[in-house]
Amino acid sequence: MDYFRIIHNDYKKRLIKQNCYLKNVLDLGSGKAGDIHKYRDSFVNWVTLVEPNPDYVKEARHRIALSNMDQFCKIHNASAEDFRDNFKYDVVSMFFVLSFFFDNEEHLDKLIKNVSYHLKNNGKFIGTTITAEKLVPLIQNNDIDNEFFSIKKESDLTHSYGDKITFNLKGSQTAQTQTEYLVYFDLLEKICNKYSLVLTYKKCYESNSKLPDELNLLTSFYCEFIFQKK
Ligand SMILES: C[S@@+](CC[C@H](N)C(=O)[O-])C[C@H]1O[C@@H](n2cnc3c(N)ncnc32)[C@H](O)[C@@H]1O
Repeated sequence: MDYFRIIHNDYKKRLIKQNCYLKNVLDLGSGKAGDIHKYRDSFVNWVTLVEPNPDYVKEARHRIALSNMDQFCKIHNASAEDFRDNFKYDVVSMFFVLSFFFDNEEHLDKLIKNVSYHLKNNGKFIGTTITAEKLVPLIQNNDIDNEFFSIKKESDLTHSYGDKITFNLKGSQTAQTQTEYLVYFDLLEKICNKYSLVLTYKKCYESNSKLPDELNLLTSFYCEFIFQKK
């Protein structure tokens, strides 16, 4: 299972390195600030972290201090859709968070409006997410349950908002069973376009020879993306 975490960390590291060098960044849903080293090692100019879970924020503050990023980073205990500051950022990042916003259209709309508000013109909205495309045909009739993970459909799949799943990464130190919503990328793109965010890059994760088939399958459900504010 650690391979899975390591590979996803590598993907994030590369995306941060390519897009955040000397930039001002807003990271929405930053968790326990597990990516703070990646920002530091990419010579970010400034990073604002936003995370609604107070326990994660506490742990994040500790990590920020340990990585000597206090001078370059501030964390806010808030949800991404409600957070507001008067700063315009070069980059807004969201890593593995969008699936919490597909419960209904208003929720995603509020988020993307806020992402766009915080971006400068030509600024980038970057991230990684699980997506529905490859997952839906597999869970339409049966749950997926193997040694490494399980994904269970909790509602009818409608190719719209509110398609609920429970996801369990077995044996992981951090993850528990989580309820999330399927991310339909075409719906994301539509709302992004409404707020002047244009898709410039999208790549689904490829298989890796170091991973067992089950984890390659899981990895294939994820993609990375860049939208640019026009
Ligand atoms: C899978 S974790 C990802 C954390 C981090 N981005 C990473 O890649 O390690 C998802 C995070 O999204 C956060 N989250 C859930 N709902 C959110 C919301 N409405 N606004 C911001 N973050 C949210 C959770 O608290 C959690 O920390």
